[in-house]
Amino acid sequence: MKRVFSAVFAAVFLLLPLVACSSSGGKDKVDTIKIGVTLYRKDDTFVASLCNDLEKIAKQMEAKSGKKIVVNVVDGQSSQALQNDQVDSFISRHYDVICVNEVDRTSAAVIVNKVKAADIPVIFFNREPVEEDIRLWDRAYYVGADAAQSGQLQGEIIAKAYAKDPASIDRNGDGKIQYVMLEGEQEHQDALLRTEYSIKAVTGAGIKVEKLADEIANWQRAQGTAKMNQWLTKYGDRIEVVFCNNDDMALGAIDAIKESKRKVKPIVVGIDATEGGVNAIKDGSMFGTVYNDARGQAKAIFDLSYAFATGEDPAKTVKLQGGHYVWVPYRMVTIQNADDILSILQN
Ligand code: BGC
Ligand code: CA
Repeated sequence: MKRVFSAVFAAVFLLLPLVACSSSGGKDKVDTIKIGVTLYRKDDTFVASLCNDLEKIAKQMEAKSGKKIVVNVVDGQSSQALQNDQVDSFISRHYDVICVNEVDRTSAAVIVNKVKAADIPVIFFNREPVEEDIRLWDRAYYVGADAAQSGQLQGEIIAKAYAKDPASIDRNGDGKIQYVMLEGEQEHQDALLRTEYSIKAVTGAGIKVEKLADEIANWQRAQGTAKMNQWLTKYGDRIEVVFCNNDDMALGAIDAIKESKRKVKPIVVGIDATEGGVNAIKDGSMFGTVYNDARGQAKAIFDLSYAFATGEDPAKTVKLQGGHYVWVPYRMVTIQNADDILSILQN
């Protein structure tokens, strides 16, 4: 009995280093993959849906691959200092990859330097760091969508409708589109470029515009409602189009318009194609939006993460541009394809 026991004991001891080795050494034998994700804030509608998709994709891959895949999502609560600490904590717990939805996208260098020192790859997403910071390390990546393209597509929705029936947009018939603009956060690449390119697309189509007002509502529905209330009081029926940098603010503007009980309702366009946004197109309260492919971005983040954790070449699973970037295209959404987009969102 004693001999059997010591033989088992010895076997366990001999095997232990092998087991330890296989989980840290040979990359292809990894059986637990740890992905750390920190969000600028968890209650952002678009970011939350991207994160949901990421967790779903990880679950599917877990079932398929037989590996355990941990996706640990933490909330940066709009604090860069907190987010930096969260990254430190992922590093100290040896995560395979760290995904960062940067609070302050102009200060990514701090995080890049931390993960570089720890030799852990980092994937920034949705909030684009300056290129200089991404290029600080060859294992730093960005997954996102081309902000200018989304603005362009939003402007085209209005330009097309105008070309078809000018009076449906230019309600007062003065040959110009009177508009207001709800902007996202001040420093966000999407806010800056959407604001610029949406109007460029309209004027580029030879249509004259007149800006009545332009304000920041930080991507948030309630702030959108507050600004729109003020504008409705000030400009009333003069507002023909409400350009919104995202759907949540568009839904906020729609809340205000509904509340005001006006007969003539301004035309509202958004960006994201969240479920709420697409449903608003279906019920006629929103004119159009632009599909910001959360699932496509989540898939690229996951594929990159999986490649890093298993020692594969990331360029084989995603289309990398300039060695560091994955760009997921936008799509225009109107009543014509609202159902198609909705079924993508609900699947
Ligand atoms: C989305 C917004 C979101 C923001 C957060 C943008 O790409 O369109 O809805 O609030 O990202 O960073
Ligand atoms: Ca007009």
